[in-house]
Amino acid sequence: MRTPLAAALLVAATTIACARTQQEAPVAAARPIPATAGAPGAPAAPAQRRQPVSPMKQDTVRREAIATLLATLKGRENEPAGVVFKNVKLHKEMPVTQFIAMMDEQYGRGLGFTCVNCHMDNGDYASDERKNKVIARQMERMQRDIDTKYIAKVKELDDPRPKTTCVMCHRGTAHMPNTMDVPTAPVPQRKRG
Ligand code: HEC
Ligand code: HEC
Repeated sequence: MRTPLAAALLVAATTIACARTQQEAPVAAARPIPATAGAPGAPAAPAQRRQPVSPMKQDTVRREAIATLLATLKGRENEPAGVVFKNVKLHKEMPVTQFIAMMDEQYGRGLGFTCVNCHMDNGDYASDERKNKVIARQMERMQRDIDTKYIAKVKELDDPRPKTTCVMCHRGTAHMPNTMDVPTAPVPQRKRG
């Protein structure tokens, strides 16, 4: 069985950590959950999820990819994406600069992605081989449908031309939680005067 072994290792690690410095002790002591989660009657441990990569690190990776790409497009930054690139189907009229900014902010940061989550590692951006790129086009079409077929017909809205974006749904991740942070009780009001 893995769980008792893991628990034993954790206890050992905690003991060593405590022995090493006084400052580390509170951190080590604050992590008993893995040791008890597998115990009989204890609630099941939450499904193991991959640790999210740092958004700032991803920003740096995307910025480097963009610099490399833009170096090959000198003087064509304001031309339409559909003219400059080989396989653009949905954003043909968009100027290159704006198109790349959309890739960076909406498609990249909006989903917690770097360029290679959708594109090939070798800089072949035209290829449709990666599944996420194929999905992204369908998401874009879905958004256009939501905007034109539904949102545009809700005449009572305050904003005359509201538009959906990747960020509105994705919030920086490819798999969004179906939960939200709300206070569980009324927020205490500060007494006046
Ligand atoms: C969520 C997936 C996704 C991410 C992340 C993404 N892209 Fe894209 N990219 C697409 C899709 C979809 C298209 C095609 C758009 C269309 O058909 O209008 C595209 C097209 C392109 C093209 C045009 C290629 C051609 O020749 O047709 C370039 C260049 C490009 N992306 C660069 C980037 C860069 C640089 C990054 C990172 C900053 C990036 N993309 C991140 C999905 C993505
Ligand atoms: C109306 C909400 C909504 C909008 C807007 C939206 N998406 Fe999504 N998207 C989803 C949902 C829901 C999923 C499925 C999430 C899951 O599997 O956990 C998804 C999944 C994806 C995936 C697959 C992720 C994976 O790893 O399986 C990609 C890629 C993606 N969306 C790209 C985009 C892009 C790019 C945009 C903007 C053009 C966009 N989405 C806009 C709701 C949305």
